[in-house]
Amino acid sequence: MRISLIGFGKMGQEIYKIAEREKIIVSSIIDPHHQKATCSGITHQSLKNTDVAIDFTHPDTILENIEKAAKEKVNLVIGTTGWLDILPKVEKIVKKNHIGLIYGSNFSIGVHLFWQILEEASKKFNLFPQYDIFGHEFHHNKKADSPSGTAQKSAQIILKNIKRKKTLQTNILNRPPKPNELHFTSTRGGYIPGTHSIYFDSEADTLEITHQARSRAGFALGAIQCAKWIKGKTGLYTIEDYIKELFN
Ligand SMILES: NC(=O)c1ccc[n+]([C@@H]2O[C@H](COP(=O)([O-])OP(=O)(O)OC[C@H]3O[C@@H](n4cnc5c(N)ncnc54)[C@H](OP(=O)(O)O)[C@@H]3O)[C@@H](O)[C@H]2O)c1
Repeated sequence: MRISLIGFGKMGQEIYKIAEREKIIVSSIIDPHHQKATCSGITHQSLKNTDVAIDFTHPDTILENIEKAAKEKVNLVIGTTGWLDILPKVEKIVKKNHIGLIYGSNFSIGVHLFWQILEEASKKFNLFPQYDIFGHEFHHNKKADSPSGTAQKSAQIILKNIKRKKTLQTNILNRPPKPNELHFTSTRGGYIPGTHSIYFDSEADTLEITHQARSRAGFALGAIQCAKWIKGKTGLYTIEDYIKELFN
């Protein structure tokens, strides 16, 4: 398989290491400023020898990147987060150009296991109103978006299953949270690749579920696996579609 890396920052470099280890050909590295990049932008030339392009860039540039890659009929893995408001536009581009695209807020298998555990735990805690529920996430000080996509997905799982929680509140509150608000906060600092914790807290005790990424390797490996999976497919998929296949 031949891949192109769009974005050669922290994630792009991690994927490159795994591709080298797995003998996957990296046919181009597309990044506007990195000295190891083979091209500074997405063009016919930069994507001409590739099966799948893997994008870990920035939410501001994602629509343009998808449009350009779709024009070249190249399938895509989108790891970049913080762009889901434009999902309907992306869906149209994918359909119109008959390409395959898989996206996900978190490519780590461990996080998907965390979400499955959270789903089951939330169903159980729904039955016990003495427990309040809240969450917190930590990421490194270069992360552009906040709250993380993983935090948002975790919050959706809680809101779906805990009937007494109705709305997500991610801001600093200068007041006590309302009982029907799910307070899920973020901290940015240092080099943390990503830590997400959910707390089920009563007067008597606390249960905490935490996923702590030790490095970016889990995300990178997942992105490579998704690239193998999306090769030759058409249509819009989420990482959950891939995971469902894995778990069945
Ligand atoms: N889904 C997941 O599992 C997962 C895991 C980790 C991270 N992420 C997400 O992935 C994204 C990237 O994370 P990162 O930590 O690798 O960020 P990063 O270190 O800032 O790397 C992004 C790189 O993309 C480059 N870039 C910007 N616009 C570009 C364009 N149009 N074409 C090509 N390259 C471009 C940037 O160049 P400049 O610096 O010169 O602008 C930078 O080198 C973020 O949205 C992050 O939240 C997702």
